[in-house]
Amino acid sequence: MRKGLSRKNNQGESLNLAIFASGNGSNFAALIKAVREKKIKVKLVVLVCDKPEAFVVKRAQKAKVAVILVKREDFPSRLDFEAAIIQRLKNYKIDLIALAGFMRLLSPDFVKRYRNRIMNIHPSLLPVFKGAQAIRDALSARADSTGVTVHFVDEEIDHGPVILQEKIKIRSKDTLASLEKRIHLLEHKLYPQAIKLFYSGKIKFS
Ligand code: GAR
Repeated sequence: MRKGLSRKNNQGESLNLAIFASGNGSNFAALIKAVREKKIKVKLVVLVCDKPEAFVVKRAQKAKVAVILVKREDFPSRLDFEAAIIQRLKNYKIDLIALAGFMRLLSPDFVKRYRNRIMNIHPSLLPVFKGAQAIRDALSARADSTGVTVHFVDEEIDHGPVILQEKIKIRSKDTLASLEKRIHLLEHKLYPQAIKLFYSGKIKFS
C-alpha cells in the first residue's frame, strides 16, 4: 500500500476517487449511492469519459460530479490522449481510479504511473470471458456459471491481481437481459466492497 494512502486513512480522511466510464454508468450510479449512504468513505471527485454522448455523463451532471471529457479521436496518439487525462486529473489529487465500463486499454505508462491504484470491474470470473461481450460470451458458451471480478489493472486487457470475485449460476431460462440484470446487481454490491478493502489497508501488495 502506498504510504500516503494509509496515512490519509488513519487520519480519517477520505480518498479522492476518479471513475472512468464510457457508457450507461450503472456502476457509477451505484458508487455514488454507496458514498451518499456512507457505505464507503471516499470522495467521488471526477468522472473521466471518452464518449460525450454516454448516459454516464448525464448521471454525473445530475449528481454534480465534475466531468473530464476526452475523445480519443482528438489526439494523434494514445499517449497524447492519456497525457491530456493525466494533466487534467492533476486538479483533483486522485488516490484511486475505478474503471467502470471504460472500454479502452490503458497504456503501460499510464498503468505504471498509477500502479495498484487502478481497479476494474468485469462481468465474468476472470480469466475466462475477457473482453467487451463477457456476459453474451458466457451464455453462448453454455457455461453453468459466470460472475463478477474486481481486479487491479495491469498492462493486459481485463487482467491483473484479483481483489474480489463472486460466482453467479446461469439458469437454463436465462436470457441476455436476465443474466445482465443479475450480474449488474452483483457488480453494484462488489465494487463498493472492493474499494473499502482498498482504503482499509486489507489488500496486501507484493
Ligand atoms: C459493466 O458490466 C462492467 O463490468 C463492464 O461494462 C459494464 C458497464 O456497465 N466492463 C467490462 O466489460 C470491462 N471489460 P455500466 O456502464 O452500467 O456501469
